[in-house]
Amino acid sequence: MDVLVTGGSGQLGRRVVPLLQQAGHAVRQMSRRGAGPGGVRADLATGRDLPAAVRGVDVVVHAASDPRGDPWQVDVAGTRRLVQALDRGRLQHLVYVSIVGVDRVPWNYYRAKFAAEQVLLASGLPVTLLRITQYHHFVDEMLATARRGPVLPVPMGWQAAPVDVGEAAAFVAEVASGAATGDVVEFGGPEALSAADLARAWAAAREPGVRVVATPLPGRLSAAFREGGVLPGPGAARGRRTYAEHLRGA
Ligand SMILES: NC(=O)c1ccc[n+]([C@@H]2O[C@H](COP(=O)([O-])OP(=O)(O)OC[C@H]3O[C@@H](n4cnc5c(N)ncnc54)[C@H](OP(=O)(O)O)[C@@H]3O)[C@@H](O)[C@H]2O)c1
Repeated sequence: MDVLVTGGSGQLGRRVVPLLQQAGHAVRQMSRRGAGPGGVRADLATGRDLPAAVRGVDVVVHAASDPRGDPWQVDVAGTRRLVQALDRGRLQHLVYVSIVGVDRVPWNYYRAKFAAEQVLLASGLPVTLLRITQYHHFVDEMLATARRGPVLPVPMGWQAAPVDVGEAAAFVAEVASGAATGDVVEFGGPEALSAADLARAWAAAREPGVRVVATPLPGRLSAAFREGGVLPGPGAARGRRTYAEHLRGA
């Protein structure tokens, strides 16, 4: 099949592309520069080059996102542009890469991801909304950013179930090769850990001597993280690689 991977240059997308190629598909790796083998160029924020990029595709893995820029323009309006550009008669499956908890956690980026899900559900296209938990490397980045010299403050009671991005990519490729569910599918890491536990493991492995301090954080957003808003439900598929194994490089 002809498969288009939006966000093909991203952390997830660049791992999904070779897996789909190994499964025998012809894969287009979409990004704004169109770099890499099978690279096609298109910009979801403007729609530029999008019709040419999607022409003749059977399956789309939609993993492009702009969390640090304008997710309402790229993730929401960009998803609408993608829907409009696709050939309805030809498309067999669109897998949207989303995040566990976008329906529960009142954070601007998550609200945008949830709105993009609604665009896809309303589109009438054969879609699967694949919600994944935080990638291990993303947790590393958050903790490195939060560190203040010898102290690492973390919100008290927050919980997460981070997952290996390679395992997530394998699951995305597997889902993309199957039929659309028209609904949400979840994929999470093997264990739920508190932010303090994650931070202590990270500090021990990466910044020995740094002291973790769990601090109560008020507000609805914090409450949602404490109440397990980003933990996968009981029916979720699970990766096997733990955060400790990631830190050990195992
Ligand atoms: N980070 C996490 O822990 C996490 C957890 C669960 C799910 N997710 C979801 O997983 C997906 C992939 O995340 P990731 O970490 O792999 O992302 P990433 O590394 O930040 O990559 C983002 C991708 O989106 C593309 N992109 C950004 N703006 C674009 C635009 N205007 N037009 C076209 N492409 C654009 C980028 O391409 P160029 O910049 O090269 O153009 C890049 O390929 C996202 O949907 C994210 O919400 C993330």
